[in-house]
Amino acid sequence: MGESSGEGGIHLAGVSKRFRTRQGETLALDALDLDVPEGEFLAVVGPSGCGKSTLLRLVAGLMPASSGSVQVFGRDVAGPVTELGIVFQQPVLLDWRDVLGNVLFQAGIRGLSEAAFRDRALALLRQVGLEDFADRYPHELSGGMRQRASIARALLHDPPLLLMDEPFGALDALTREQMRLDLEALWMRSRKTVLFITHSVDEAVLLADRVAVMSPRPGRIERLLQVDLPRPRGLAARRDPRFIAAVEEVTALFLARGVLHGAET
Ligand SMILES: Nc1ncnc2c1ncn2[C@@H]1O[C@H](COP(=O)(O)OP(=O)(O)OP(=O)(O)O)[C@@H](O)[C@H]1O
Ligand SMILES: [Mg+2]
Repeated sequence: MGESSGEGGIHLAGVSKRFRTRQGETLALDALDLDVPEGEFLAVVGPSGCGKSTLLRLVAGLMPASSGSVQVFGRDVAGPVTELGIVFQQPVLLDWRDVLGNVLFQAGIRGLSEAAFRDRALALLRQVGLEDFADRYPHELSGGMRQRASIARALLHDPPLLLMDEPFGALDALTREQMRLDLEALWMRSRKTVLFITHSVDEAVLLADRVAVMSPRPGRIERLLQVDLPRPRGLAARRDPRFIAAVEEVTALFLARGVLHGAET
């Protein structure tokens, strides 16, 4: 009991999260176990409300678990974890700062010199295709552009852990595909530990080393799927029989749980 993974990555053991509201109690996560080794790209898929964002917030130390153990890089999480970058489901940008200022805010809140990170911030904006928008304000951006700005912000301090909550959810299909290709390229260069939450089974399989499938609430990890597709996966992976088999396996699980229905064939 309570054994530590003893090394890097994310280690969750018997993690439950209960919310108390005026309407009563919600058990969001129930005795969830999950290990993400250092350098792995893990995708989490699951139905709406199953506790995915809750899981991410517990790993980030933004709120405490009701019970169980949460460790990041071998240490118990007792407050906000600093060596990470987070992309939230809704891009959280400061209205009064331009795009460059928003990206640099990551340095500011860490007590680092924003001026020292300026070149890196501009390079990241170029990477996410926002080089011409550095001096625009959030209200002047499309939803997809705001989300790309928040991805650049999450990467500014080159964190070893990246937590992404539906980062491409608000993007159009084409941008989404491009962002996926870019994220894979970036990950291949840096080998960060990534916890990537998505509703898209395709996206999970295309990006991840392993896919964790969550059950409907209370969320648990129902299945862990190894994805043995060579990288870079690019566009061709969609036609690979291993891609198709993995997507079918997850889809079958959702059908069996009633998360998907009406398509039994
Ligand atoms: N701060 C909170 N207070 C009360 N209940 C909460 C809180 N945060 C989440 N919940 C509840 O916990 C459950 C899981 O929520 P969570 O946001 O983790 O789901 P999710 O899997 O991220 O869903 P989605 O895919 O729609 O984003 C839901 O029933 C939600 O109502
Ligand atoms: Mg969520």
